[in-house]
Amino acid sequence: MTENILAPSILSADFKVLGEQLEQTEEAGARYIHFDVMDGIFVPSISFGMPVLSSVKGATSQVLDVHLMVTEPVRYVKEFAACGADIITIHLEACEDPGAALDEIHSCGARAGISIKPATPVEELIPYLERADMFLIMSVEPGFGGQAFIPESLKRIRQLRGLLQERGLEKDLEVDGGIYHSNVAEVLDAGANVIVSGSGVFRGDIRKNVAEFMEILRNHE
Ligand code: DX5
Ligand code: ZN
Repeated sequence: MTENILAPSILSADFKVLGEQLEQTEEAGARYIHFDVMDGIFVPSISFGMPVLSSVKGATSQVLDVHLMVTEPVRYVKEFAACGADIITIHLEACEDPGAALDEIHSCGARAGISIKPATPVEELIPYLERADMFLIMSVEPGFGGQAFIPESLKRIRQLRGLLQERGLEKDLEVDGGIYHSNVAEVLDAGANVIVSGSGVFRGDIRKNVAEFMEILRNHE
């Protein structure tokens, strides 16, 4: 099995001390930083974009995992790659041609991810199983941090891991939304290996939160 990775979502960080908080997540063992971009159209809210990503790139050596909750994200792939994105994930539902968006990400030298919202059937990812490097199952409706994990997501994670295994594909399966110390083991057991957490990392003692996640992640490898 692939390594289990924690990707703290900075949507829940305190932006006046973002650099310090990134350091804390890195020192405690988080290898990725999850960066949620929202355009106010694909999702109701607006978050942050390129200038923040460039600053973060300069402040950490963690892998920058950019989740584009943006309509027709292919329009912005080059710019996000130029600002330092290592992984760019687009939403299947946001693209007229998801395959072309994945190709564009690869042509910029980044790793390509594809995500589905809770109501999108997992089977819709089948045409992209070979083409994408990472698959992101949303376990909340995208748009806001701090929502409750949708329990049916576990079945969807198992289904997707099964589809990958049937084809002999060892790919990253990321899950995003409502993940805490209390339920992360179930998410890993269902077949996820990249865990996004915003509130579960940045609320309270960041180092302690990350260390506790890392212990559970390592015990499930
Ligand atoms: C939701 C975002 C998530 C969010 C997760 O649209 O994609 O990455 O920050 O936050 P928590 O862990 O608080 O559910
Ligand atoms: Zn996200």
